[in-house]
Amino acid sequence: MMDRNEFLKTSGMLSVASILPLEGLFATNLTNNRIDKLVDENGHFVLQPLPYSESFLEPYMDAETVHLHYTFHHGGATKAANVDVKKIQEAMDSNNFETVDYWTKKLAFHSSSHILHSIFWTNLTNKQLSPTGNLLKQIEKDFGSYEKLKLYLAQTSKNVDGNGWGILAYQPMTKKLVVLQCENHEKLTQWGCVPILVIDVWEHSYYLKYKNKRADFVDTLFKIINWENVADRFNNATKLI
Ligand SMILES: [Fe+2]
Repeated sequence: MMDRNEFLKTSGMLSVASILPLEGLFATNLTNNRIDKLVDENGHFVLQPLPYSESFLEPYMDAETVHLHYTFHHGGATKAANVDVKKIQEAMDSNNFETVDYWTKKLAFHSSSHILHSIFWTNLTNKQLSPTGNLLKQIEKDFGSYEKLKLYLAQTSKNVDGNGWGILAYQPMTKKLVVLQCENHEKLTQWGCVPILVIDVWEHSYYLKYKNKRADFVDTLFKIINWENVADRFNNATKLI
């Protein structure tokens, strides 16, 4: 596997470096799957298999939604991010920088989509769990209690303007958990945050089953969060600095 510097050099994706927990997650096989392996040996973005069958999250998330979401939305973003990298490279090779701002914006959008979706699938399971151990201690330190965090994150997720994400992230520079309300896939972040739990509130995530009731979808999602996966991500993030 290529190392961090080689990866950044190959893809030219400095924007991605701000949110990628590069050392930890590239080096770690989270919960025995490889979905966090965002790029192949050549540095190209690659869509990993889902960590479970498309019907695994039934009845909370229906198989058809998972199929469309994973194949066309996550998969589409992965392919598009490779195009963006290629276009930037072509512009640089031809010494014509007129279009690089456009493709750089596109790359921020598509690569962030790939990253967040990769985390999203592993954040879910088909049984009810709750945070424990060091993660729970940090939640209590930063938010008072798990219940308070849940209310905060749910409210933030339900009220994203347009499409976006509710995100629980760890910021190694401040040693704190933070809640982000992300618009699209890349807006309204705080620098240096490592996403550990992401809630996809794009309409493609819930519309077939929940129609316009985004709040019902978010409340349901809290019943299938894989807190063991979130704890793995938290433990990795705390080792970054
Ligand atoms: Fe999505």
